[in-house]
Amino acid sequence: MSKSRWYKDAVIYQIYPRSFCDSNGDGIGDIRGIISKLDYLKDLGVTCVWLSPCYKSPNADNGYDISDYRDIMDEFGTLDDWQEMADGMHERGIKLVMDLVVNHTSDEHEWFKQSRSSKDNPYRDYYIWRKGKGKDGKTPPNNWTSRFTGSAWEYDETTGEFYLHLFHKKQPDLNWENPKVRQEVADICNYWFEKGVDGFRCDVITYISKDQSFADGKFNPVVCGDEHFVIGPRYHEFIHELNEKSWSKYDTMIVGEAQGITINNAFDCVDESREELDCVFTFEHQTEVDSFMTTIPKPFNLKKWKEIFSSWQALPDTCWNSLYLENHDYPRVVPRYGKMEYREYVDKMLAISINFLKGTPYIYQGQEIGMTNFEDLEPDEYRDVVSLQLRDTVKKIFPPAMPIVKWGLNKKARDHARAPMQWDDSEYAGFSTVEPWMPNNPNYPEINVKKALEDKNSVWYFYQKINRMRIGDEIIRYGTYKQYMPENKDIWVYERAYKGKKYVVVASYTDKEAVFTMPRELRYNKCKLILHNYNDGEFMLTSCRLKPYEAFVFETE
Ligand code: NOJ
Repeated sequence: MSKSRWYKDAVIYQIYPRSFCDSNGDGIGDIRGIISKLDYLKDLGVTCVWLSPCYKSPNADNGYDISDYRDIMDEFGTLDDWQEMADGMHERGIKLVMDLVVNHTSDEHEWFKQSRSSKDNPYRDYYIWRKGKGKDGKTPPNNWTSRFTGSAWEYDETTGEFYLHLFHKKQPDLNWENPKVRQEVADICNYWFEKGVDGFRCDVITYISKDQSFADGKFNPVVCGDEHFVIGPRYHEFIHELNEKSWSKYDTMIVGEAQGITINNAFDCVDESREELDCVFTFEHQTEVDSFMTTIPKPFNLKKWKEIFSSWQALPDTCWNSLYLENHDYPRVVPRYGKMEYREYVDKMLAISINFLKGTPYIYQGQEIGMTNFEDLEPDEYRDVVSLQLRDTVKKIFPPAMPIVKWGLNKKARDHARAPMQWDDSEYAGFSTVEPWMPNNPNYPEINVKKALEDKNSVWYFYQKINRMRIGDEIIRYGTYKQYMPENKDIWVYERAYKGKKYVVVASYTDKEAVFTMPRELRYNKCKLILHNYNDGEFMLTSCRLKPYEAFVFETE
């Protein structure tokens, strides 16, 4: 029997603070902006917020490069603002999960400043330093690549050695082999728990343990070295230790961002008996469609996608799922999974598909109003370090490929999800009173919260309805999962069953007509429609022809 923990009933809303709401007119979202929207979140039916990093940071990677884990970024406010926000959430029955970014720090963190200053500094071993190769020692120690392109090693003149950075060179990797580093991480967690935080989303947590031989990785044209640090040799030991020293002492949720975790190793990473993470964000369904590191999108394959979700649903009850499609690292779901002209139908169809699965659902800011990608951003309008590095590298080494880069970024850049939140149709979309740090999506007069709240059929109200339905629903919480028509390339049909009752979800992923055939064993049952993304009143609950992106849920026995 699985443990009863609060997050299993939660609806989590991710806030990317820089783009959520600007309260002081500097063009950058902030904590007081979040405070002003707490009632909005409560009305939507959100019961937990995952706040992307708000700690002190020089912003090489928008806060995922932390220079002080115990303080708030100047642009975002103060610790007092943070406390008011956390208290305001708790008063409204909303939990707060913070980002824990401890695979790396900023190079402006005091530890790194000390570490790079000399080889015998007490902080030297907080990071990973190695001698270079070649006569002059200026060739990187191995062929590992940064996930943001280029070598994962940076030469540092002061001591004549290289340090490892699996992301940007301003994000040096911490050395988890050093017990002092592990103690620092536990202390940071405890510091925030004592202030009232309810959990952490652990950034790239599966990269923390590096194979100490630092051997070359197998050749790969995109990224090298993964096999030496993704769920590395001491990963389980480190996570278990942190669980013991910190997480297990509080009533928390620890969700790991889990590159490399697949259905084959999921049990060892999240089963309750392991006392490690409570749940993970898998990337299997994302990389099946595309991966944010490569610019060429893959065509969407629903059959494969259903297989992935179905395999995760088959995990035992003691392993818990995270259900998400959007976050700050991926483009918006429309046009990723459906055509723009059917935008609202696609948004609602996806909401149905994901929210009736077993696990905790996530809504990324703006998803509840169906925010979309930019249609045509120029390479110079991007702000994300990954987009800019790609732009600059191609400009430098092969300028004729720039049109491809432009095309790829328009499809896949992380910037799409980072456009300022669209609150209304006033200038700058009600996000700020001045020009924001990154451009507004020009479609904000059409797609915004104010408009959504005026229309009872909007995507917003659809999410509100689903969020309310989920509360205390035993079928959604405990039900078994079974897929029908697994071979079908256009529709996803699944059932959740608990104590003799069932929900059947039918979702079409095509703009063409698709045929749904009522499963034989359900054919003579009484069926009651409980949710539908078309509301034109014509609906026959038998085998039927589905309209573009049509989706519905019916209750049966
Ligand atoms: C994953 C985060 O989601 C992403 O935004 C960040 O760039 C990398 N980790 C590095 O911290």
